Amino acid sequence: MITNKQFQKIYAESIQDPEKFWANVAETTIEWFQKWDKVLNWEFPNYQWFVGGKLNATYNCLDRHVKAGLGEKTALIYLNENNERTTIDYQNLSKQVNKFSNGLKSLGVKKGDRVLIYMPLVIEQIIAMLACARIGAIHSVVFAGFSANALRERAESLKAKIVITATWTLRRGKKKLLKPVAEEAIKDLEFVEKLIVLNRDKNETSFINEREIDFYDLLNPQSEICEGEVMDSGDPLFILYTSGSTGKPKGIVHNTGGFLVYAQYTLENAFNIMSDDIYWCTADPGWITGHSYVTYGPLAKGLTVLIVEGVPDYPKPDNWYKIIEQEKVNIFYTSPTALRMLKKYGEEYCKQHDLSSLRILGTVGEPINPEVWKWYYEFIGNKKCPIADTWWQTETGGHMIMTLPGLEEKPGVAGLPFYGIDVAIINQAGEEMPVNEKGFLVIKKPWPGALSDCWNNSDRFIQYWSEIGKVFFTGDFAIKDADGYIQILGRSDDVINISGHRIGTAEVENLLVSFNGIVEAAVISKPDELKGERLKAFVVLKSNIKGDNVLKLDIQKYIKTKIASFAVPEEIEFISSLPKTRSGKIMRRILKAKELGQDVGDLTTLED
Ligand code: WT7
Repeated sequence: MITNKQFQKIYAESIQDPEKFWANVAETTIEWFQKWDKVLNWEFPNYQWFVGGKLNATYNCLDRHVKAGLGEKTALIYLNENNERTTIDYQNLSKQVNKFSNGLKSLGVKKGDRVLIYMPLVIEQIIAMLACARIGAIHSVVFAGFSANALRERAESLKAKIVITATWTLRRGKKKLLKPVAEEAIKDLEFVEKLIVLNRDKNETSFINEREIDFYDLLNPQSEICEGEVMDSGDPLFILYTSGSTGKPKGIVHNTGGFLVYAQYTLENAFNIMSDDIYWCTADPGWITGHSYVTYGPLAKGLTVLIVEGVPDYPKPDNWYKIIEQEKVNIFYTSPTALRMLKKYGEEYCKQHDLSSLRILGTVGEPINPEVWKWYYEFIGNKKCPIADTWWQTETGGHMIMTLPGLEEKPGVAGLPFYGIDVAIINQAGEEMPVNEKGFLVIKKPWPGALSDCWNNSDRFIQYWSEIGKVFFTGDFAIKDADGYIQILGRSDDVINISGHRIGTAEVENLLVSFNGIVEAAVISKPDELKGERLKAFVVLKSNIKGDNVLKLDIQKYIKTKIASFAVPEEIEFISSLPKTRSGKIMRRILKAKELGQDVGDLTTLED
C-alpha cells in the first residue's frame, strides 16, 4: 500500500522525466531479447515506445516463469456452470501454447497475419491468443455475443487468414452455438483459409467442408518446442474493435512492447499484487479488460488467474461469492454493472459465504454509483479491502486514472492520474478548466499503453490527437477537485455505455435506416438502474407503413442479428419527423431532454 506522500513524489518524478521513468519500468517488468535504443520516438501524431527493443509477449507470459522455476505454479483455473474445474500450470500452458503455435505455423500463419478469435472464455481461448503472440500473428478477439454480421465485418476489415471458434458456449444452463455463427460469417470470404473449431462434445463434430479443422487435431501432433518470433517493440500484438461516433467500429491496434510494459505495471500498482495472489478479473477477452487484465498483465506477472465461463447469478445469485470462497480469491476486479445486479439481489447472499480471502477490490467500465461503491466496500470487501476504481479505455491499453490502494478513497470518483499520465480537463478552445468545472478529459502526452494506430484507418487515429489541440481526446467529460481527483461524468461524444459495453449511436442509427420501411432514425440513451444506460430509438417510417408492436419486435431482432443483443434499443418510438438543425443535423439533445423531462435549451438552430 502506498501513502499519499510516496505517491505524490513518484508522480512528480514521472511527469518531470517520463522517459527516464518508463525506461526504468520497462527494464524491471519485462525481459527483453534486446534492449531498446530510444525510450520514445514522438513525431506528432505518431509515437513509438522502446524503439529498437526486441521481445516476445508469450515468452514474457510463460517461458520466463518456467525458467525461473515456476513451471508447476498454476497459471489458469477454469470454472464453468456445470461445476467443472480445470487447472493448468505454467509449464503445461507453455507446452500447449507451443503446440498450437506450431499448428498455426503448419497452416502457413506467419508474422503479421491476422487471426480472428471467436470463442468463449475457456483455457483454449487464452492458448489461441498466446500462440498468435508467440509467432507474431496479430490476434483480434471478437466477443462471443456478437452476431455473424458483426463477425463478418471484422473478418473483412482484417482480411483474417484464420478464424478460431468453439462449438458452443454455456450461458444460464443453455448452450449457445458459436460454430454456426462463425460458418455463416465467413461463408463466402475466400481469404479465410481455415476455421479452427474447438469441439466441446465427446462425439465427433460435423465439419461442413475441408476448410474446417479440429482444434486438438491441429494441436496434438505438434512439437512442444516452438521458438518465439523475435518481435520489435513496435510490432502489433493485437487489434480490438470498438465503437466510436461513426457508423463503423474501429480496429484499435496495440503494439507489443509498450502495451506489455503498461499492462503489467498498471496491474501491479492498481492491485498491490503479491506473487501468490489468486487473481480474478471477471472480464472476457472479447473486451480490452480481458486482454490487459485477464491475459497479458497477470500472466506476465506470473499470477494464478481465475477464469469463469458464466454469469454472476447463475445457477444462484450467490454464484460469484461461492467461487470467491472456494478458490480463496485475493484480488477481485469487476464492473459497476455486475455490482448493481449483485446489490439488487441483496447482501444476504454475500453473508452466506466466507469472503475473507479478499484483499483488494477493483472496478472498471463506468462511473460507479457511490451507494454501489459503499455496498461493495461493506458487503464484499467486509470493510477491509481498498477499492481500486480504474478509469481507462480500449485505446489506452491500461489504467489511466485510478485510486491506488492506500490512497484516500472518494466513492464514485475515479481517482488520480497514474504515474507518467499527464491529464487535463479543457474546454472547446483548449483552455484548462478551473477546479470543479466540467470539461473534456484529455491526455497531454503519449504513454506506453496508448493505441498505435487504427487498423486501415490512420486518419481516425490522427483524429484522436487532433480533436482539440495536440492532445489525446478521450471522449469523456470530467471534473477535477481541489485534491486533483478526477470524476468521470460520462461520454462527451455519441457513444453510449451499456453495461460497460460501448456502442455508438451512429452504428445503431445506420442499421435502423437500412431496415426496410424506416426513413430516418435517432438513438439516445436513458439512465437505467442496472445497465447504467439503455437505448431508445426514434424512428420515422415510410408513409405507407404502420408502426406497431410487431414491427418493433422485427426491428429489435434485426439489430440483434446485425450487431449483438446489448445494442438493441429497448424502446422504439415511431414519430413523424426528427428535430433537425437548418443544416440538417439531427438534434439528439432535444429528443433526450424531452424524453427525460428536462429543459430543451437553446432552440435557435432548430429548423422546425
Ligand atoms: C469508456 C471506455 C476500460 C475497460 C472497459 C471499458 C468508461 C471506463 C471507467 C471508470 C467511469 C469509466 C468511460 C470510457 N469508463 N472505466 N472507472 N469510471 N467511467 O472500455 O469500452 O473502451 O470504454 O468506459 O466512459 O471512455 P471501453
